[in-house]
Amino acid sequence: MGQPGANGVNNQKAYQAKEPEGTAFVGSCQNFFGVVVADKSAQFDDGREIELLHFVYGHSSIEEIRGSPSGVLKAIDDYARTKKYLMNVGEEKGRIVTNLISEVKPQTMVELGGYIGYSALLFGDAVRKAGGKRYFSLERDPVFAAVIMSLVDLAGLSDVVEVVVGPSADSIKRLHSSGSLAHIDLMFLDHYKPAYTTDLKLCEHLQLITPGSVLAADNVIHPGNPPYLEYVRSDVQTKRVRSEKGIQNGDDAAHFPDYSKNQYQKRQGDEKLSTEVKGNPNLVYESRLVDSFEPTGEPVRLHHYDFHICTCLTIHRMV
Ligand SMILES: C[S@@+](CC[C@H](N)C(=O)[O-])C[C@H]1O[C@@H](n2cnc3c(N)ncnc32)[C@H](O)[C@@H]1O
Repeated sequence: MGQPGANGVNNQKAYQAKEPEGTAFVGSCQNFFGVVVADKSAQFDDGREIELLHFVYGHSSIEEIRGSPSGVLKAIDDYARTKKYLMNVGEEKGRIVTNLISEVKPQTMVELGGYIGYSALLFGDAVRKAGGKRYFSLERDPVFAAVIMSLVDLAGLSDVVEVVVGPSADSIKRLHSSGSLAHIDLMFLDHYKPAYTTDLKLCEHLQLITPGSVLAADNVIHPGNPPYLEYVRSDVQTKRVRSEKGIQNGDDAAHFPDYSKNQYQKRQGDEKLSTEVKGNPNLVYESRLVDSFEPTGEPVRLHHYDFHICTCLTIHRMV
């Protein structure tokens, strides 16, 4: 038996389900020691997401699951443990974010990349318990988004969680211009790696990120996101100079390994990044890597310090 998960659910083994032969493409990457390892995050979009829905709705405990976020999460864990791997946020990282939610008490939280809704259920529930009002789950793939909506409805979280379908940058602009999104208290970045920096700059530009806003970014080491880390760690002066010179903070896809930049291409096509947006170089961030492990069954060292949290502290005024 594994350890209880962040939601009180046992999901220790959720990431260890055996892959049947002939399933989805399995990418690979190198760990810190240069050893090639299978990239479990490349295993998706082979029908398992719809199979999950049938599994959950056909669950023997469906009546107890209804209206219970932890019940739905447990059913998802059951599927991942007994059927197929799902690229959900893991137990450790889930706990880091739910702890952050209790600390920050966000009125509005945004996640970039919803997949089948595990993080939306876990964090949307935590936001509601912390007195928050809205959890926007931005998901590019309409089929995945439909799965999220169905599970959010089943869990009774539709009053808090709003699923927004489409590429994150388009959704952010649309939510902002319609007045639905005026400020982001907490943002979870877990989608297309090269879009972390461009989407952050877009949010800065629209003044959605201001002092007090907190960013939680997954996979900054594996598969890695050097441009994002560089941007949030740069001092104001450096960012101003780069911005004035029109230098992108390395946010184009060339800075990422192929398996990472092509991860969602098969079905969703090329991702368009809003590289024209310069962001607000005057925002000062406090940044820290968080010690975390992902329960994939791989050596835990691989995912050490893979989660990044930063808080926007202040706006540096020009003198
Ligand atoms: C790692 S999964 C998210 C997992 C989810 N946060 C969880 O923990 O349960 C990444 C998701 O990002 C989505 N995605 C990729 N590019 C995107 C974009 N530009 N905008 C929104 N979603 C995107 C993918 O379709 C995929 O479902």
